[in-house]
Amino acid sequence: MLKSLHSTDIGPTALNDTRKFFPALQNNTAYLDSASTCQVPTTVIDAISTYLSTGHGNAQRGMYQFSENASNLHQLCREKVAEFINAPQGSDIIFTKSATESINLVAHSLRLGLRQSLTPEHSILITVMEHHANLLPWQRLCQQTGARLNILPINKNGVLDSSALETYLNDNCALFAITHISNVTGIVNDVKSLCKTGHQYKVPVLIDGAQAVGHRQVDVSQIDCDYYVFSGHKMYAATGIGVLYCKSLDNDPLEPLLLGGGIVNKVTLDSYKLKPTVEKFEAGSANMLGIVGLIGAIEFIDNIGWPALNAHERKVSGYLLNALRSIEGIKVLPNDAGSAVISFVHQQVHSHDVASILALENVAVRAGHHCAQPYLKAMGFKHCVRVSLGCYSSFADVDRLVVALGEVEVMFAGV
Ligand code: ALA
Repeated sequence: MLKSLHSTDIGPTALNDTRKFFPALQNNTAYLDSASTCQVPTTVIDAISTYLSTGHGNAQRGMYQFSENASNLHQLCREKVAEFINAPQGSDIIFTKSATESINLVAHSLRLGLRQSLTPEHSILITVMEHHANLLPWQRLCQQTGARLNILPINKNGVLDSSALETYLNDNCALFAITHISNVTGIVNDVKSLCKTGHQYKVPVLIDGAQAVGHRQVDVSQIDCDYYVFSGHKMYAATGIGVLYCKSLDNDPLEPLLLGGGIVNKVTLDSYKLKPTVEKFEAGSANMLGIVGLIGAIEFIDNIGWPALNAHERKVSGYLLNALRSIEGIKVLPNDAGSAVISFVHQQVHSHDVASILALENVAVRAGHHCAQPYLKAMGFKHCVRVSLGCYSSFADVDRLVVALGEVEVMFAGV
């Protein structure tokens, strides 16, 4: 039985006090930018620190204890991630450096034409809601192959309008790629139903789950997607570790993005034979700090439990929405009630100025286009201020935001 490094018993009822597990939040920052990156709990910091202080090893590269330990943790992480998203087995989990890299890996394989050679007859389907990470790789793929990039629109509420979905799905549609939860509005897509429709036309479906995995229980088997991608740092782990779940890796013509050490069975000066297993996608030394941190983050979430996490975020999100709606001069963007992301614009003050003033008050938010320019444009905005929550977010953080927004009024009064 593989053993984990740590198991802090946080308990399902202790959520109101969760902030104490985040050393970085003891400095009185109202951290409201978890959609960008989450703060890291002691469980994760301790897991990384314990790993480093008990022996850093290169996974699958040595017979001695440090290396064996790293190999075991690497394998444990695959199994933990599989369990976390209800994938059938650890060998369905490819480690990458980020959700972005995971999407690029799939796009790379399609460019090589291993599933089918893309021509101007073919298409890729995405939506206007996508983060640039789930847009640019498909734009480039289409530019390089001549395939057509079809884009599902949104309605006036910022919600996906899937009425044209079936007109875009056919034998020549090579992939349907869609976000699970928008990083701008927090709007949740019904990915299970979208996958079902995609599959009726035999179109594989990729889900960008970057904004979902840290906020809701993701069940890839139930969603029945072909690919699901996410990053560790948006679920309380460190940056630099991402995941690509692939439903049928054994039969999928996915091709590694990187070539190098650790992925081959046999190499000669003019040929190589890749391992038939998941390791073939992970050339080079594994990101052990990312791996160990991801194990810690999964244990952290498991210890709190989804019911408590969801109830807490819903409560704070409702409080935030009411607070923003009550402030004159602020227009709240379309949103999904209870979601961890809510964006707004100030009717007189540019979003970057708003965020700068909030920063002076130690209130951390993100402002700008949020790497989703087409989505913002489709909703009639160029920029916005985004407030996003994590398990440590509190009513007090929202109160601090409201007070700091008062400072914006004071500074810009009469301008
Ligand atoms: N993708 C991250 C965000 O939405 C960086 O802020």
